[in-house]
Amino acid sequence: MVTSPLKDLPIGVFDSGVGGLTVLKDLLKKLPNESFYYLGDTARVPYGTRSKETVIKYARSCVKFLLSKDVKILVIACHTASSYAIPVLKSEIELPIIGVVEPGARSAVRKTKNNRIGIIGTEGTIRSGSYQTHIKILNPDVEVFSRSCPLFVPLVEEGWVEGQVPYLIAQEYLHSLILNKIDVLLLGCTHYPLLIPTISKLTTSIEIVDSSKETAEEVYNVLKSKNLIRENIDTINQSVRYYVTDNPEKFVEVGQRILGSPIENVEWIDL
Ligand code: DGL
Repeated sequence: MVTSPLKDLPIGVFDSGVGGLTVLKDLLKKLPNESFYYLGDTARVPYGTRSKETVIKYARSCVKFLLSKDVKILVIACHTASSYAIPVLKSEIELPIIGVVEPGARSAVRKTKNNRIGIIGTEGTIRSGSYQTHIKILNPDVEVFSRSCPLFVPLVEEGWVEGQVPYLIAQEYLHSLILNKIDVLLLGCTHYPLLIPTISKLTTSIEIVDSSKETAEEVYNVLKSKNLIRENIDTINQSVRYYVTDNPEKFVEVGQRILGSPIENVEWIDL
């Protein structure tokens, strides 16, 4: 049997559904010669309202699936899964595993000037305190203000990202953070980058931090440090294979809007 060199193996990415495509989008930009397996657990989405135990159980089964496909690194694009499951998964598997929380926290701490950071995310992400913990490790002087924004995920999936309704909802959610004079707002959920144009209308003085760019940067750095970046050879094309646990048609419809490019090669799998 011929086995591929380690650097030719794909990068495994997983999310609870379509939202992680915001992270995949940045990975595709940063790593133009790589191939990717993207798993969206569309049968069990949302993760954001579930208990820590359930999210860990789901994340474990997604990781197990990607490991069975032979990948060289794992990226957990889901903030809720990163918040609850990364510490457990890191102790269970040997492969490098990157979540979105640490890179996002690092970027926010670097950008704040007044040491007042706001975090928004799903109920689970906010309840877990993951961002707060990482920010405090990086700089104990930073004050963190957080708010879960459960309506943002359905708004984005409906494609309702601009106009009066999302504006009013964003205003309601962000009001207290703005009153607390945050100078950085960390988007702690896969879907929220789509709402940046609306959120920016609420305040011009707050810098918005999107974890996905920083996560792509971290994946690049880890691969580079391990000499696992695929070389730029003419015969190699960037490619993505998608796996979903339910409703591939809906995944394609919503996903193309989020990714901003066509989605092909979608396989319906059972975990
Ligand atoms: N992907 C999830 C996250 O970033 C949002 C959707 C869900 O609740 O599963 O936390």
